[in-house]
Amino acid sequence: MSTETNPGTRLGALTEWPAVRQALDLLATPGSRHAIPTPAAIIDLTALNGNLARAAETCRDTGVTLRPHAKTHKCADLARLQLAAGAVGVCVAKLGEAEALFDAGIDNILVTSPIVGRSVAARAADLAVAGASVTVTVDHPAGVAALAAMASTPIDVLVDVDVGLGRTGVPDPDAALRVATAIAAAPQLTMRGVQGYGGHWQHIGDPADRHAAVAEGMRRLTAAIELLDRHGHDTTIRTGGGTGTFEADIALGVLTELQPGSYAVMDAQYHRIDGSWVHSLEQALFVAATVTGATQHWLTVDAGLKAFATDAGTPGSDIGAYLWYGDEQGLLLTDDPDRPALGTHVEFIPPHCDPTIDRYDILHVVEGDTLVDLWPIQARGRSQ
Ligand SMILES: Cc1ncc(COP(=O)(O)O)c(C=O)c1O
Repeated sequence: MSTETNPGTRLGALTEWPAVRQALDLLATPGSRHAIPTPAAIIDLTALNGNLARAAETCRDTGVTLRPHAKTHKCADLARLQLAAGAVGVCVAKLGEAEALFDAGIDNILVTSPIVGRSVAARAADLAVAGASVTVTVDHPAGVAALAAMASTPIDVLVDVDVGLGRTGVPDPDAALRVATAIAAAPQLTMRGVQGYGGHWQHIGDPADRHAAVAEGMRRLTAAIELLDRHGHDTTIRTGGGTGTFEADIALGVLTELQPGSYAVMDAQYHRIDGSWVHSLEQALFVAATVTGATQHWLTVDAGLKAFATDAGTPGSDIGAYLWYGDEQGLLLTDDPDRPALGTHVEFIPPHCDPTIDRYDILHVVEGDTLVDLWPIQARGRSQ
């Protein structure tokens, strides 16, 4: 477990890379933001801290627990800021992320993808033995059986309920009861509550439509909770929600714990939806690129398909429209005489933050135009 504060030491083997050494040499130098080897993931620390504080304050004021989803950033240093701002712990999607973040010092972790099979259950059990405060989700008695077979120390468990996404979760209250009954019968497992996450609601553009969709899903979750309560199961934790539904989740009052992820760093697809909460968040994640070519009508930049997730439109830029132009390059359409010169830096707003960050090993942290820190993305690629 590491809580090392020196960036060079914290980066470990990454410091053997010449580009990383160049970035380390730039630390604390005014203007260094624009000299980082590219393509690179950049975090604007002021914007990030503002977003973290906004979510934490809102949760505090409304009596809801905040457990941000670390699948967005996969970075222990960023998770530590979330915890310092008031989060009770973090969520991860996969055991691999949990293992990487626990090794880097984050010990209160909810695994939101239901456990299926003994190999994953064994790793959850190992984490608990190693001292992690790990909570897992299940949506089938087979998952409970796998966990029960592998657990040698107590593990907290939530029943994942399908609130309409159709991705994971028990389909109805009776199925929730069957899973909860199996948990109650397993000596090392402790039923703690439910999870209901609606990913399909997060980017509904109109806030009223989004609220109505969440309300319908929360009715499904409430039906499961009521049946579990009637049978004496603990449903204290009711976790779910994301950046897009944050306001609706609070207003509806069914969830006791919120799991927003993207809110910390934001992306272009979240800027496209309406709503006062989401509009109060600032863009904190950028991808920096270098202008490597210039014609009369476009610039070539060294950030292409490998530099961004490509599922949610093109990278945002106020210089011109971006065109995908292969694995390694993109084009910026502009004939502005004042456009950036060959060799200079440009920064883009990523279309979709989570899978973009997963393409990088390091978050380059800037304050204003100065590079102030380098954070390893410990759980990058740890999707097993
Ligand atoms: C289970 C779960 N909870 C929370 C989130 C966070 O969503 P967002 O990044 O939109 O805030 C996700 C994202 O996919 C998720 O899968």
